[in-house]
Amino acid sequence: MNGTPTLPFIKCPMAPSFNLFLMVLLTCALHTNGCYTSIISFGDSLADTGNAKQLAIFKNVELHSMFFPYGETYFHNPTGRCSNGRLIVDFVAESLGLPFIPPYVGGDGNAIDFGQGLNYAVASATALEASFHEARGYSVPTNASLRVQLEWFKQSLSSMCATLSDCRQLIGSSLILMGEIGGNDYNHALVAGKSIDDIQPYVPLVINTIVTTLNVLIELGAQTVIIPGNLPIGCSAAFLTIYYGSSDEEYDSTTGCLIRLNKFAECHNELLQSELNRIRELHPNVNIIYGDYYNAAMQFYRSPDDFGFSNGALKACCGGKGPYNYNQSTECASQFSTSCAEPNTYANWDGLHLTEAAYRVIYKSLFEGSYTTPQFNSLCTINLGKVDRRDLSKEIPYTTYQY
Ligand SMILES: *[C@@H]1O[C@H](CO)[C@@H](O)[C@H](O)[C@H]1NC(C)=O
Ligand SMILES: *[C@@H]1O[C@H](CO)[C@@H](O)[C@H](O)[C@H]1NC(C)=O
Repeated sequence: MNGTPTLPFIKCPMAPSFNLFLMVLLTCALHTNGCYTSIISFGDSLADTGNAKQLAIFKNVELHSMFFPYGETYFHNPTGRCSNGRLIVDFVAESLGLPFIPPYVGGDGNAIDFGQGLNYAVASATALEASFHEARGYSVPTNASLRVQLEWFKQSLSSMCATLSDCRQLIGSSLILMGEIGGNDYNHALVAGKSIDDIQPYVPLVINTIVTTLNVLIELGAQTVIIPGNLPIGCSAAFLTIYYGSSDEEYDSTTGCLIRLNKFAECHNELLQSELNRIRELHPNVNIIYGDYYNAAMQFYRSPDDFGFSNGALKACCGGKGPYNYNQSTECASQFSTSCAEPNTYANWDGLHLTEAAYRVIYKSLFEGSYTTPQFNSLCTINLGKVDRRDLSKEIPYTTYQY
């Protein structure tokens, strides 16, 4: 069975069981990537398609991402995405034949919007509550923590599915992208002057929040959830600038990245993966997929030229000069910032975020390559089978949930 177009016209008799088997495979092949009817996304600026922008408009404040050159390469206007073009989640939507996922904030959250997905990710969002950070002496730019995003999700459910069973069906056939989230819990603290030792104790708390949210989604009927880990933050132009002039042994000689920050990100990722292994054992029928953003990105930090990043992977395309073209007081899109002519030759967009070209590499590595565990490609047929096997008898009454 190789899916050649002549297959449906074969007239020879087949055993019913084989026929059924073929039908399942064909259903999948015909919908190539069409097994998911929608995308639900939670997270931060790596996945925000416009929520932070909309929240800022409501509050009558301005964000850099509301101005050019944000969006210059693909959308040709600043959508609120923290890049020059599409994000990983946009490439996922394209590959599934779905429209770009609209932001939840500012939409009416109705069934038409939700039909093919909604995005709850907010730039700057943390996994932990804003109050957690405030209690440690610094504030965070948004209180749209992962818990708040989950609340929004539950609220939008009440307006779009009439019964719990309908909701389960919709959530079960959705591809849920939960994250990356948690990176900002560390970023905001580090930028506020905390040390790596100070934030080490955050890691189990952040992972616990992610796992708690995952469990709620599973309870609501989630069948496929992708949970990405943290990026190699020691390679970001922002941190390379903040820690500029560290001693030579602090830098990885093959990449120029900061070793301790990357090790810290790896530590988060390892704990996340071991927790995901635990959840997989408790829920063998749910596809819980780890997304290895870290190693997908390390490919271009190790050999930028192989990916067309002829200006290197460390220096920001858009920013305020300095060795990495990043300056906290002259951020991208502010008055004296400068922007490169060819963003595709840079991996770093504005110091903290990546270019569309870099996000495409990560997308391809995960969704067309081997940087997910288990591998994403093979899940299409498995997912169809799982929806059929779902045990509806164990449904919790609709009213149990606090919509
Ligand atoms: C978040 O903060 C805003 C004010 O900036 C407030 O109006 C809102 O109620 C807060 N939301 C939550 C969930 O705490
Ligand atoms: C950032 O810009 C300010 C003002 O132009 C300057 O004083 C400062 O030295 C710059 N910092 C870095 C790290 O380049």
